[in-house]
Amino acid sequence: MNDIEPTPSLQGQTVVVLGGSSGIGLETARLARSAAAEVIVTGRDSERLRQAGVELGAVRTAQLDLADAAGISEFFEGLSAPVDHVLVTGGGPTYGTIADLDFDDARRVLDEHLLGSLRVARHAAHSVRAGGSLTLITGSHARRPGPGLSIAAIAAAAVPVIAANAAVELSPVRVNAIAAGFVDTPLSARLLGAELETRRAELRQTLPIHRVVNAADVAATALHLMTNTAVTGATYDVDGGQQLIP
Ligand SMILES: NC(=O)c1ccc[n+]([C@@H]2O[C@H](COP(=O)([O-])OP(=O)(O)OC[C@H]3O[C@@H](n4cnc5c(N)ncnc54)[C@H](OP(=O)(O)O)[C@@H]3O)[C@@H](O)[C@H]2O)c1
Repeated sequence: MNDIEPTPSLQGQTVVVLGGSSGIGLETARLARSAAAEVIVTGRDSERLRQAGVELGAVRTAQLDLADAAGISEFFEGLSAPVDHVLVTGGGPTYGTIADLDFDDARRVLDEHLLGSLRVARHAAHSVRAGGSLTLITGSHARRPGPGLSIAAIAAAAVPVIAANAAVELSPVRVNAIAAGFVDTPLSARLLGAELETRRAELRQTLPIHRVVNAADVAATALHLMTNTAVTGATYDVDGGQQLIP
């Protein structure tokens, strides 16, 4: 087997971002473009996806739901050539105590995050070139049990396991995960509504980094995991130390 050389640059490489029309995914696609990569982005909402595609100068956009197994197959089978890197972001979250859990919603979120990641991993085995990468995004804050966190916690516990097992099975394609804490994205704004500014202020005061983590922070780690060919099966925390505070 030939040695896989380190590839510190993304220049001329193709990066697929599933969930690339907003937040962490969009910022990762922007950073990849600024590193001279070509990008392919997906999302569910056609107008948001169109705008992202235009802004990024994407080589392709595709409407895709991570819960849609057939759609995922169709997307990967439609790639004209092996790609270099795939990032999976999007899907969920859902919060609710066990007493109030909406099981249909819980099933949907677990299907998107867990089976969705496995479905993408199955395709990445054939669609990503040797030494390329698959990166999965999950959360860190639900590692500590709390009311309403059980589904988020299951996803946060399982995604690193998926990454590690897929890293073994997909070798020499590398598979890693990023566990994010609070990230200042449109999703966080939607979830918190009028509470957003209070939450930002609280995080500035309490996080060891004394600032709020943003999508560019996570994107920088995503690009590192794409280009550092020594890393596989790992989960990198990007949470400003959120899990360290009481
Ligand atoms: N923001 C945080 O604080 C935080 C912390 C930890 C983990 N995360 C996780 O990180 C991921 C990205 O979060 P974000 O804050 O960047 O969210 P965002 O700003 O809402 O962006 C999510 C992206 O994924 C797409 N998407 C969402 N659900 C999808 C689905 N089921 N199938 C396909 N595409 C989907 C969205 O487009 P469409 O809606 O048009 O499909 C959009 O492009 C999520 O899985 C979230 O749970 C976020």
